[in-house]
Amino acid sequence: MVGQPVPGMASKGFGRWKKLWWLLYWYPGFVARNLTHRFPAIFSGPTILVKRGPCATAVHSLLDTMITTCQETCPFFTTQLSSHNPCPVYGVAGTMGGAPEYIHVNHKDAQLFVVSLLIASGVSLQNAETVALGLVQADLRGVESHGINRLPSYLARIRSGVLNPKAEPTLTQVTPVVAQVDANNGFGFPAAHLGMKTAIEMAKTFGIGMVSVKHSNHFGMSAWIVKQAVDAGMMSLVFTNSSPALPAWGGKEKLLGVSPIACGAPGREGSIPFILDMAPSVAARGKIHKAKRRGEKIPGDWALDAEGRPTDDPVKALDGGVMLPMSGPKGSGLAIMMDVFSGVLSGSAFAGGVTGPYDMSKPGDVGHFLVAIKPDLFMSMDEFRSRMETLYHRVIGSEKMEGVERIYFPGEIELLTERKRLVEGIPFVQAEIDALNKEAEILKTGRIPVSL
Ligand SMILES: NC(=O)c1ccc[n+]([C@@H]2O[C@H](COP(=O)([O-])OP(=O)(O)OC[C@H]3O[C@@H](n4cnc5c(N)ncnc54)[C@H](O)[C@@H]3O)[C@@H](O)[C@H]2O)c1
Repeated sequence: MVGQPVPGMASKGFGRWKKLWWLLYWYPGFVARNLTHRFPAIFSGPTILVKRGPCATAVHSLLDTMITTCQETCPFFTTQLSSHNPCPVYGVAGTMGGAPEYIHVNHKDAQLFVVSLLIASGVSLQNAETVALGLVQADLRGVESHGINRLPSYLARIRSGVLNPKAEPTLTQVTPVVAQVDANNGFGFPAAHLGMKTAIEMAKTFGIGMVSVKHSNHFGMSAWIVKQAVDAGMMSLVFTNSSPALPAWGGKEKLLGVSPIACGAPGREGSIPFILDMAPSVAARGKIHKAKRRGEKIPGDWALDAEGRPTDDPVKALDGGVMLPMSGPKGSGLAIMMDVFSGVLSGSAFAGGVTGPYDMSKPGDVGHFLVAIKPDLFMSMDEFRSRMETLYHRVIGSEKMEGVERIYFPGEIELLTERKRLVEGIPFVQAEIDALNKEAEILKTGRIPVSL
């Protein structure tokens, strides 16, 4: 489970275990080679593999605690089973002092901080709260690529005059089940929020509601809009287009957006809803920006550099490089689908015409496509929720492939991460906190409250 911390565990410092690691023996196995090869920046120090063999129960328990700690604190921790060893063998992040030190921020403090910066930039209180909600939810769900660290680029766009902080989205009802929102070049968050709110209202009466949003900007993580529908007991589709980053399959020109396809359905009350939110690329471009911010390498299969060569350097990937579509023509096909439904249909930019959130040259002109569907159209709500529960248990209870500890439902890892971060706070590295405080300095607002 590379890159996924195990949620729901107690937080402990990484450093306290460093000395204990030296008690364990070195194992130059295939897992170590695989990990160090994939994440050279993280595994700059020696990698240790902990062999969980026929040893005393106390040692097993110690190893389990260490593994849990590593899973929480090292973003690239992995566990694997050895194919040529009857005992489970764990690969442990061998950073030996190179692990990033995280600073934690309470989600309510993060929300207030974002609101204060936005209000100081001319955004209304209501819209500032909606933008902050979308960004902080991304951080809570572990989607840091689309969290509050996006703020400096958004504020730079306001200062450059290409994003209107005072714009209010306007709504036009087209048919009883179809509406259009014009974001008027304001933030994408309030426009998408209004769009989904309207779609939900239409679906309550007519079973379905469809909203097209035009002249918008980046709306961050799609899952927060899917969640808006899930919280109202609705199924949903949430599409957007975005600035060119991907070639069409077979091409080398940046043409299509890394435009996420997202959808959701409510489960039983209090259980795990279905929330799928995925970019059509191998990884979201925001993850490359995050690696750049944190001084980390990226896996070699995410992007090409300007010369068309695979690269593990986020700077080279962003500087004239392209993202790689997931599953070749299928990924680029999904990116085209997002452009058809969000760009062509809405009247917004399309075919490479959208301006990205890090580009200060002109308005984004992003399009979104939002659909809400009432789940009890063909059966009672209770029956629908119970069928979703059956699907959930069937999926997570299915037979596991070798080396997999647990099967998750789409959106489940993010929900478990959110539950953990609501209690423990959101982890940031110092450079990210500094970048946010620099904005606070410019706008003369308070610094972000942190705890170690
Ligand atoms: N607004 C924009 O223009 C824009 C553009 C690109 C990406 N994004 C956002 O970037 C975020 C990250 O996208 P991504 O494609 O890198 O996401 P990802 O690869 O981390 O996850 C994609 C989906 O797979 C599921 N998933 C991941 N690991 C799983 C596992 N082990 N078992 C079961 N399900 C699992 C997740 O729940 C998620 O629904 C998304 O929130 C997306 O909305 C936004």
